[in-house]
Amino acid sequence: MTHQDHPTPRRGKPWALTLFGFAAAGGLIAMPFLAGPPDGEKIPDIVRFLGHFHPVVLHLPIGVFALILFQELGAILGKRGGESGGTPLFPLFFGAASAIVAVLAGFLLYHGEVQFRGNSLADRHLWGGLIFAVAAVVTFILKAWTVALNGNPAFYRLLLFASVGVMGFASHDGASLTHGEDYLTEYAPEPIRSLLGTDKPEAAPAPVKATGEQVVYADIVAPILERRCVQCHKEGKSKGKFRMDTYEFLVKGGKEGPGLEPGNAAESNILIRMNLPMDDEEHMPPEGKPDIEDPEIAVLTWWIDNGADPKKLLPAFDVPAPIKAAIAKVAVIASAGVAESAAPAHFSGPDEALKSSVAGLSKQFPGALTFESQQSALLTFTAVSLRGNFDDAGFNPLAPVLPHLVTVDLSATKITDQTVSKLSSATHLRLIRLSETGVTDAAIDTLLKLPSLESINLYGTKVTDAGVSRLSTLPNLKRLYLWQTAVTPAAVKTLKEKLPDCEIITGA
Ligand code: HEC
Repeated sequence: MTHQDHPTPRRGKPWALTLFGFAAAGGLIAMPFLAGPPDGEKIPDIVRFLGHFHPVVLHLPIGVFALILFQELGAILGKRGGESGGTPLFPLFFGAASAIVAVLAGFLLYHGEVQFRGNSLADRHLWGGLIFAVAAVVTFILKAWTVALNGNPAFYRLLLFASVGVMGFASHDGASLTHGEDYLTEYAPEPIRSLLGTDKPEAAPAPVKATGEQVVYADIVAPILERRCVQCHKEGKSKGKFRMDTYEFLVKGGKEGPGLEPGNAAESNILIRMNLPMDDEEHMPPEGKPDIEDPEIAVLTWWIDNGADPKKLLPAFDVPAPIKAAIAKVAVIASAGVAESAAPAHFSGPDEALKSSVAGLSKQFPGALTFESQQSALLTFTAVSLRGNFDDAGFNPLAPVLPHLVTVDLSATKITDQTVSKLSSATHLRLIRLSETGVTDAAIDTLLKLPSLESINLYGTKVTDAGVSRLSTLPNLKRLYLWQTAVTPAAVKTLKEKLPDCEIITGA
């Protein structure tokens, strides 16, 4: 048999398309690896500009693929009509191409916004979108071969359905990122909500137990120790040969004897250490770590004085009012999270008061204030879109949410040292961008009060050697941006010696 016998006019085999498609898919997959985690620091405005097209473009592939899906289903179910071939090739090309553009824009968006840093939902959405785009490209290639070889469309259809499935997941994550996880079901009638398991009390992944069921040690005491102490007192890292990660170890103690004495907080080593003056070498947690807060000490003291029982439920105690208040405050501290400890950061979601302050502020500054993730009470504030319209007065309304802030971007706004001084209560702050603002060395005084700070951007500000050299006492500082400042190379060098783990970016 020769080619001439072929019944339909022969089409060329789509080798070029295939090659091009696989190259594009490979490029997409390589992209996150090449670019690394989102930085959000030295990102040029053009990246943000293009990134903001993501919400515009992404509806194209969704619409196109939904249409193709229905066409193919129609073709499968209604074999009789003349259109049994399903979709022509072009819509698939258009769908795949628009998916690539949507992913590219999404990727720029992800890199341009500080809030996506370390946000696992954003990471998952990125990969969901990426896998969908790659699947869309492969579906298109398979369709092209099916057409060229007049082959069985079953394989292409299978892949098409799989792609649309991935698309569903990716779009759902994307919607959760922008609107919050319960956006769709928030106003659903009750039977639907309970069917989906989205009833409010069940929605949080790690709900705080009702007070009636709380075991004091496991649910209140252990999380405090976990947050403040266990990082240095656990298996493999037991400073002073003292582990605090289980009740037994806690009681057993270390070199200096038992960690605690049930019934006697005053004689209990852990409390003796916590109550030492801050400048005492033996104070725990050691200098440089966020200190344990008063309500936490109050709860621990009360629990030990009342027998330090490992199993006893909260209602079995006769809890005095000040301790009840302290327990409530500890829950707030837990939900605000401590930068250092990964586990309890998402201990509980935002409470109603916080949600309503955030909702109010969001009306004033659309898109500027967001929760870091859906289950956390941690907040990100970015004044990027407000820029020159944002000044010290503009910052005032944020006062009630300051303790919840983890990242603050005030770059290129009109704020001054006055705004920075208000941030002294933002003790959970990990990242601050003050680039191209009027701040001076006076701002450094405030920054020194924020032990969780990991990244400070002072590019294009009036800071000098005198101020910047004092940053050497910040224990967690990993990145410091100083280009286009008066800071001298000599000062940078001295700072670098004192902060060997900190990357100092000078643009030199
Ligand atoms: C950043 C690490 C770090 C953190 C966090 C930390 N410790 Fe320590 N801890 C140490 C080191 C180092 C020693 C040993 C030096 C010393 O005895 O002061 C120590 C020793 C101790 C000892 C003495 C143990 C013994 O028997 O010799 C106690 C008690 C103690 N810590 C309690 C605590 C408590 C309570 C917390 C939390 C509020 C805490 N530590 C948090 C580093 C840490």
